[in-house]
Amino acid sequence: MTQRILAYGRLNDDQLAKLRRDFHVDYFAHLDSPDEPAFRAALREAHGLVGASLKITPALLDEAPQLRAIASISVGYDNYPVDELTRRGILLCNTPDVLTETTADTGFLLILAAARRAVELAEFIRQGDWRSSIGEAHFGSDVHGKTLGMIGFGRIGAAVARRGALGFGMRVLYSNASPKPALENELGATRCELDELLSQADVICVTVPLTPATEKLIGRREFGLMKPSAVFVNIARGKVVNETAMIQALKSRQIQAAGLDVFEQEPLPSESPLPFMTNVVALPHIGSATHETRTAMAQRALDNIRLALEGERPIDLVNDEAWSPA
Ligand code: DGY
Repeated sequence: MTQRILAYGRLNDDQLAKLRRDFHVDYFAHLDSPDEPAFRAALREAHGLVGASLKITPALLDEAPQLRAIASISVGYDNYPVDELTRRGILLCNTPDVLTETTADTGFLLILAAARRAVELAEFIRQGDWRSSIGEAHFGSDVHGKTLGMIGFGRIGAAVARRGALGFGMRVLYSNASPKPALENELGATRCELDELLSQADVICVTVPLTPATEKLIGRREFGLMKPSAVFVNIARGKVVNETAMIQALKSRQIQAAGLDVFEQEPLPSESPLPFMTNVVALPHIGSATHETRTAMAQRALDNIRLALEGERPIDLVNDEAWSPA
């Protein structure tokens, strides 16, 4: 029997054609809502799911009685009920590694843009306000030679720190559940408590995954510990930060600036003040969004789903407990 895959992420023609050689594929290039009848119908028959940015709930899983594996086109898997998937014996795969460098580039883009006020000053020109040589009122802060505080020191955190230490001569502090001795050697990084990092770092960059333990990790108290000159960058998940507290800290200039690729609610609601604040650089969750990397992520997800449905162990299995070799 030909197995059925329901794909709702962006796949290119070549990837789709290859997948269709071996599987029946129901493909939704744009999915506005998982309630679409055609999507629900395909879900009922699907053995595998491939996609991104869709919240998978236990109720949705009830609609997918044949489902054996999900390959998310993302490294983060906070959209999936991992324990519930494991209980049902459904494999969950993600796409680490292939997006590390691109996402770290986004982190550094935000660090530089926020510290040097790049978006605010580009807008200043666009408005026709550049009439004489700019003065102190428009100066930014240096990044090179400063202290970079990494909250989370996994693959992406390490790649941001590498750019800081080796490219910009920054001292690196990190807070992480476990020590990373190899990275300490490579980058001269020092592990410290979160409070110490917050009070010492000039640039603070969040890269922890969203879990119950990291939800609202950075709130009013934590913004209060930061230097008034601090630049705060979040490329992880919006819910790691208490957004109301962050807006307050930015409005009152308790901290200097923020560079944000992620938000509590995405897409950002139109009433959010964040994109309009001059000391904020806000991007629409572009962490891994380059042609090369999104193609590589989709390919990795396809490799994972193919292996899973062929009874082989996928490359990037999130829930090991669900794996039982034939
Ligand atoms: C991920 O893969 O989790 C990223 O946030 C998507 O850009």
